[in-house]
Amino acid sequence: MDDRAALIEDTLQRLADTVGDPQPLIYARLFTLRPDFEPMFELDRDGGVRAYMLETCFDCVLGQAAGSEAPRFHLEAARLQHDGYGLTAADLDLIFAAIRDVCRDTLGESWDEKRDAAWASLLDELSGLTEETTG
Ligand code: HEM
Repeated sequence: MDDRAALIEDTLQRLADTVGDPQPLIYARLFTLRPDFEPMFELDRDGGVRAYMLETCFDCVLGQAAGSEAPRFHLEAARLQHDGYGLTAADLDLIFAAIRDVCRDTLGESWDEKRDAAWASLLDELSGLTEETTG
């Protein structure tokens, strides 16, 4: 495993160890970034859709860190699946920004420059993949 993959995995492990299920924090952060996204989930009363979506997003984060091709396919599917909501590629990237922000806030002082750079480059790559699938 390279340094970046190790840092990303370590970050998510620390997040889970500190907050347990990070789902409420991540969606709260997303809706702070974009309040207009919140009503889109109104029909998801039990949070099941949000849980599955976030799981897919975590797969993308870990998959991209591990050099897997899976994120490309997940993001291609997400582009199609979310088209009806009028979400752009840049909009889809915001869930990854929300994940990163919650990790940064949770880790506090252990969020150093190296970790920040690891996440920044990962988010850049995911954003590049989402753009690529824009058809
Ligand atoms: C900020 C960005 C995003 C917003 C606002 C958003 C919004 C939504 C909404 C409203 C739904 C429920 C309606 C439906 O199933 O059509 C949904 C479902 C889903 N989203 Fe997203 N999405 C975002 C980013 C992503 C990304 C980047 C991925 C994949 C990497 C993703 C994967 C999924 C999946 C797999 C489901 C289906 C869940 C299920 O049917 O159980 N979403 N999303």
